Amino acid sequence: MAEHIRVLLSEEEVDNRIKEIGEQISKDYAGKAVHLVCVLKGGSFFMCELAKRITIPVSFDFMSVSSYGSETKSSGVVKIVKDLDEPLKDKEVIVVEDIVDSGRTLSYLLEILQNRGPKSIGICTLLDKPERRVTDVKVDYTGFEIPDEFVVGYGLDYDQKYRNLPYIGVVEFD
Ligand code: IMP
Ligand code: MG
Repeated sequence: MAEHIRVLLSEEEVDNRIKEIGEQISKDYAGKAVHLVCVLKGGSFFMCELAKRITIPVSFDFMSVSSYGSETKSSGVVKIVKDLDEPLKDKEVIVVEDIVDSGRTLSYLLEILQNRGPKSIGICTLLDKPERRVTDVKVDYTGFEIPDEFVVGYGLDYDQKYRNLPYIGVVEFD
């Protein structure tokens, strides 16, 4: 089956929105430093662009999780595949995600990170599919709310492909 990508959010729209979120975070945390926690691999492009737009001191770290259960339905129980290098103790942490779908992965991850004693913990996601939410998670910064469609680009993949697209697109099959 041939597949093609329909543009949902252009490169310019995405970049402009990331700039706005960076400004908002800089305001909200004025006088403090933020520690961004990037959830690999999907959150990587977003976190790099976001970090460039934040004007207060920034540090960051990466972690990688895999969810148990089937490929298409996340169970929410996640295994840490790569843990953070730095402790979170007393830091103003912001978890940076590519997309919040059911919310299961994120709520499980938050529980783990909360136990490490950060001063605060916020959530920032580039995309949100609110229709799909199963577990209640409080997202502090959302780039775009999108309909329930499978999207790729800007770090998001379909079978490990398309992460490098500089825009957000929907995978369509001919
Ligand atoms: P959930 O919120 O626990 O259901 O899982 C969210 C994770 O599923 C995200 O971090 C993505 O890795 C993946 N995911 C959900 N929706 C999409 C999509 O539309 N495209 C690509 N990955 C997605
Ligand atoms: Mg993810």
